[in-house]
Amino acid sequence: MKICIFSDLHIDFNGKKLGITFEEEFITFVKKKEADCILIAGDISNTVQVTLNFIDLVQNATGIPVYFIPGNHEVWADGEGESTVAIEELAKHPSCLIHHSIELTKEVVIVGDSGWYDYSFIEEMNLLEEDIKGFKDTNWDGRYTHLKLTDKEYLKECLIRIEEKLKQYESKQVILMNHFIPHEDFLIWKSDRFWNLCNAYMGSKKIGECIKRYKNVTHCIFGHTHKRFGCVEKDGCMYICTPLGYYGIEFFEQDLQVILEESCVILEV
Ligand SMILES: [Fe+2]
Repeated sequence: MKICIFSDLHIDFNGKKLGITFEEEFITFVKKKEADCILIAGDISNTVQVTLNFIDLVQNATGIPVYFIPGNHEVWADGEGESTVAIEELAKHPSCLIHHSIELTKEVVIVGDSGWYDYSFIEEMNLLEEDIKGFKDTNWDGRYTHLKLTDKEYLKECLIRIEEKLKQYESKQVILMNHFIPHEDFLIWKSDRFWNLCNAYMGSKKIGECIKRYKNVTHCIFGHTHKRFGCVEKDGCMYICTPLGYYGIEFFEQDLQVILEESCVILEV
C-alpha cells in the first residue's frame, strides 16, 4: 500500500500567489503517483470550509481516501473560544483523525490528533508564563487562535486522546500524525531573540516523550515548521516532516507538480 504524505499545503495562499487552482494540480499529482492513501498533517488552508471542501473534492475526484488532522491555520478565528469550535467542526469530518483511527491493514493503524504547543521548548529561557502569552498576543500568528482552554490545557487534552488510542493499538504498528513539532531536534535557533521566542509555539517535548513510551509507534508525521526535514530516524521511530510551505518564502518553483514531487514523502506499508 502506497501512502502519500503532505503537510502545510496552504492551498489558499499558494493557489492565489501562483495563479493556479491548487485543487486541480493536487488531484493530477496524486493520480500520477497512484497513491492508495493520502495523509495531510495540517495547515491545508486558513479556514475550516476551504479545508473540508478540499478533502471532499480530492476524495471524490480520485477515489483515494484522504486523512488529515487540523493545523493551527485551519482554526484561525476572531472571537473567544472560536478556534475550539473550529477544531470540533473539523473533527466531525470522517477523514479527520481526532475522534477515530484508521486500521490501514491488519497490522498498521494511523492514529492522529491536532496536537498543540505548551511553551516547553523555551523552558530554559526562564520566562514568566504571562510574558510568553503576552508575546503570543502581540507578535505571533498564535494571536489568531482562540481556544476555550489554555494552550497547556489543550495540549494535555490532545495527549490524553493520543495515549488512549496508543493503548488501544499497543499490539499494532502505529503511524502517528500531529501538526506540531514533537522533538527539540527539529527546532531552529538563531541569534534573534524574537525568532527563538517563537519556538514556544512550535510544539511540545511531551509529544516526543509520549512516542518514546510506545515502541510500536514506528512513524511520526508532523508539520508546522516550514523547514523540510524529510525522514529522520530517532530512538527507533521515523520522524517525517515534509511541509510544502509558502511560495515566495520557502519555495520559488512556479510549477506545482515539481514542488509537490519534492515535498511528498511516499511510505509503503
Ligand atoms: Fe502550522
